[in-house]
Order: sequence, then C-alpha cells, then structure tokens
Amino acid sequence: MWAWSIKELGDPPRVAIVERERPAPKPGDVVVRLTAASLNYRDLELGRRGAGRPLDAPFTPLSDGCGVVEAVGDGVTTWKIGDRVCSTFFPNWTAGDVDHLSRGIVLGMPGFEGIGQEFFVLPERALIAPPAFLTDEEAATLTCAGVTAWRAVNEVARLRPGATVLLQGTGGVSIFALQFAKAAGLRTIITSSSDEKLAKARAIGADETINYRSTPKWATEARKLTDGRGVDLVVEVGGADTLQQSLRAVRVGGAIAVIGILSGRQQEIDVTSIFSANVTISGISVGSHAMFAAMNRAIETHRIRPLVSATFARTDISDAYAAMAAAGHMGKLVITAR
Ligand SMILES: NC(=O)c1ccc[n+]([C@@H]2O[C@H](COP(=O)([O-])OP(=O)(O)OC[C@H]3O[C@@H](n4cnc5c(N)ncnc54)[C@H](OP(=O)(O)O)[C@@H]3O)[C@@H](O)[C@H]2O)c1
Repeated sequence: MWAWSIKELGDPPRVAIVERERPAPKPGDVVVRLTAASLNYRDLELGRRGAGRPLDAPFTPLSDGCGVVEAVGDGVTTWKIGDRVCSTFFPNWTAGDVDHLSRGIVLGMPGFEGIGQEFFVLPERALIAPPAFLTDEEAATLTCAGVTAWRAVNEVARLRPGATVLLQGTGGVSIFALQFAKAAGLRTIITSSSDEKLAKARAIGADETINYRSTPKWATEARKLTDGRGVDLVVEVGGADTLQQSLRAVRVGGAIAVIGILSGRQQEIDVTSIFSANVTISGISVGSHAMFAAMNRAIETHRIRPLVSATFARTDISDAYAAMAAAGHMGKLVITAR
C-alpha cells in the first residue's frame, strides 16, 4: 500500500509517497481505506519543525481523514466492512473533561502514526460516522478544524443568540467557527488581510468584517461595532500578534478561546487586562468524540457544508503543503486519496 511520509523537516518539508506493508487489524481495531484527507496549519508546522527533537523525520502525517471500513478485528461491534468513517483527533478522548490520559495519544506527528496512508488503523472508539450528506472531501475536514471551532463557539462561554463573536482570519478553524456561530444565532465579526476574502466571508454569513492590514487596531474597530461594549467571545488563532488586541476587543466578563499561533508563540501580556475585565481565557486543544458527535448533529440540522477552497491529487501533496504556507486559501485544503 502507499503512504505519505515526511522524509525531511524543513520549510517546505519534503513529503514523499512510500510503499508499506498493508496492516491487519488486531482485536478491537478497525482498518480504514482512506478516501480523502485534509491539511491543518498544525501539519505544516509539524513538517517544518517536527515535535522539536532531532530525528523527528520520517513520520506519517495528518490527523484528518475520511474513508471506508476495510476490515475489523475481533470484538469490534460498532463498525462493519463498507461503513463510512472519519478519524478522531485524540483516540482516547471519548467524552467528559480533558485530562492527561485523554490527550495521551494524538494522530500524525513524530511518534504517533498519522492517517496519511492508503489503509490506516484505529481502535473502534476512535472513529465516527460523518454526516451522510457531506462528500468524503468535505467530511475529511471535520476532525481537527471542525471540532476545534465547534468547541470554541459552543463550550467556552454560554452565549445566547445575538451575542457577538470575533473570528480571526479566514482559515480552516475560523470559517468553521463562522458557520457554527451563525447556526447558533450569534452575531459575527471576522477579520482578514484580504478585502476579497472578507467579501466572500460576508457571502457565507459574516455580519461585520475588518481588514486587519488596513485597520491594524482592529480591536478598537470591534469595540465600535459593539457600541463600545466589546465582543462576548474571541476565537483566538493568531497568537503573538493578536492576543493583546483580543484582550482589548473582548467585553468585561467575556471569554477568549485560545487556539492558535499563526503569528508566533511569545507575547508580552498586560496581566491587568485579564483580571480587571474579568476575562475567561480558555485553552482549547481540539475536542472529544462526544463533541464531534454533537457537531455532526448541528451540521445535519443546519445543512452546513465545510468550505473547501482547493482539492489536490494524492501525488500532489507537496503542492497542498505549499498552498497552506502561502495562505491564499479560505477554509480548508483537501487531498484526495483515490
Ligand atoms: N489548539 C487546537 O486544538 C488547534 C486546532 C486547530 C488549529 N489550531 C491552530 O489554530 C491556528 C489556525 O489553524 P488553521 O488550520 O485554521 O490555519 P489556516 O487555515 O492555515 O489559517 C490561515 C489563515 O489565518 C489567518 N491569519 C494568519 N495570521 C493572522 C493574524 N496575525 N491575524 C489574523 N489572522 C491571521 C490568515 O487569514 P487571511 O488570509 O484571511 O488574513 C490565513 O490565511 C493555527 O495556529 C493552528 O495551529 C489549533
């Protein structure tokens, strides 16, 4: 069988297609034939730096995939051959609060096998059926970006319809968050470096838009758009360049879902801005199987289609990594496995 392999870390990483032995399922495991996978910014970062150790490459990348059950091990009761399934990001996190055990296994990084191969193997509890109306390419975007955005919008703060949520940029997590926020009856403000992307964001439901290049003090603009009150929730994916402004944009008693590091990891923060405004800062790392299931019900109910801005052939995976680095996309980048 074929497998994608990060052969050498770098910017861009060297991704190759290699031959492997086809896996057989152990008791409790399911073998899935991959039909589509999607890239996350995380995959690019892992390809650039690995997990920060020497000898991190080679490894099998990617966490997000859709496929068809090819074989089941002894004792598997949830799935049968031919079922359509998606991978879940933390195979051990089925439900409940996160802890060190639920985060103990993760997909697609050095030391942890990814789904980027013709047949991947996961325990039966680590798979989930995607909404039936989605294509395989759409379903392949849900595992990381979808569940992260779902949790940020629905689990960090108790937001009622009409509350305002601020979204940063138009990448995978932020566009999902826009779609979930609209479905929840929330008012959305989205930022982008591109007016063209902001126009498209309006077309898919954004109420207010701010270009963070032409309006570098976007937090001040967000406050104006909320009559000086501030937004109820910020979905914070920017990191170093954005967290201080997010603290300026959020209302007294509001919340910030800290998710990403698109502009870097280190930032000096005025601590008074956290406690004086009584801000809840919640770190998010994807979510559980139960959150994935709740998200799928909302996707079914509201007929939400993930925004896929480009689909790459299996042999063009390096082009997909390059497209992610160029950041010209909106929503998700998908790679077909067929
Ligand atoms: N903690 C978790 O569980 C988790 C899960 C998923 C993702 N993440 C992290 O969340 C971040 C987003 O991931 P993703 O996969 O959605 O990324 P992505 O699709 O690559 O998003 C790229 C977009 O982000 C926007 N952006 C870049 N720098 C920005 C800045 N300084 N301010 C505002 N927007 C900026 C740009 O939008 P415009 O082109 O519109 O300007 C860019 O096109 C990454 O850091 C990723 O590692 C974390």
